[in-house]
Amino acid sequence: TLRGVVAMDGPSGTGKSTVSRRLAAACGAAYLDTGATYRAATLAVLRAGLDESAPAAELVAAATAARIESGTDPAGPTIRLDGDDVAAEIRGPAVTGLVSAVSALSEVRTQLVKEQQAVIAAALTEPGGIVVEGRDIGTVVAPDAPLKVYLTASDEVRAARRGRQDARAGRGVDSAVTLADVRRRDRLDSTRAVSPLHRAPDALLVDTDELSVEAVLEELLRLVSERG
Ligand code: C5P
Repeated sequence: TLRGVVAMDGPSGTGKSTVSRRLAAACGAAYLDTGATYRAATLAVLRAGLDESAPAAELVAAATAARIESGTDPAGPTIRLDGDDVAAEIRGPAVTGLVSAVSALSEVRTQLVKEQQAVIAAALTEPGGIVVEGRDIGTVVAPDAPLKVYLTASDEVRAARRGRQDARAGRGVDSAVTLADVRRRDRLDSTRAVSPLHRAPDALLVDTDELSVEAVLEELLRLVSERG
């Protein structure tokens, strides 16, 4: 069992969501996907009729006016935008294409981080802890987490995983396009001025290139039993 927060960071396509959810389920912990909150804020921007070309102040206003609710049951995490279930819609290409730009806005991050910290604090009032995944959990959202993990994998492996995920969800995407998109998002996420994606000095590095989901999960369960 977990006592506090397990911070799971890393770029997309490392299997982070799958193993984070499974880890939470295996430990009887809660689960929070912070990427889903940035995606929901981005959907709010799109619903306001805005895109990348809009003035930053308008993007911020639309994103921060959104009411975003995250359900933390790892068996069926939910995400609502202004009362609507948007779990499927936030995975589509329109949101994926714009999310890095929206999540680079400092006012958007300030608000979402505060909301994420409130969800975490509420979960910690119950026994069992919480697994939180994102890009800045170990560095910004939960810097005191007793266990921090940073997942990596090569660009090609990550793009292949993203491609399989899209195919399963019925989104046919060209593999070259997927690889280019993975690289573009990594570049934007790692070079932005506010809370860029980087490994916290005390995060344990897990390279998932050669590891199955089962093997990563086993490694994480071992880490939890040692220090979670
Ligand atoms: O993890 P996922 O691919 O759903 O995240 C979507 C985007 O949300 C990322 O590419 C990144 O721009 C942003 N994000 C972030 N900080 C987090 C989680 C996600 O900036 N903690």
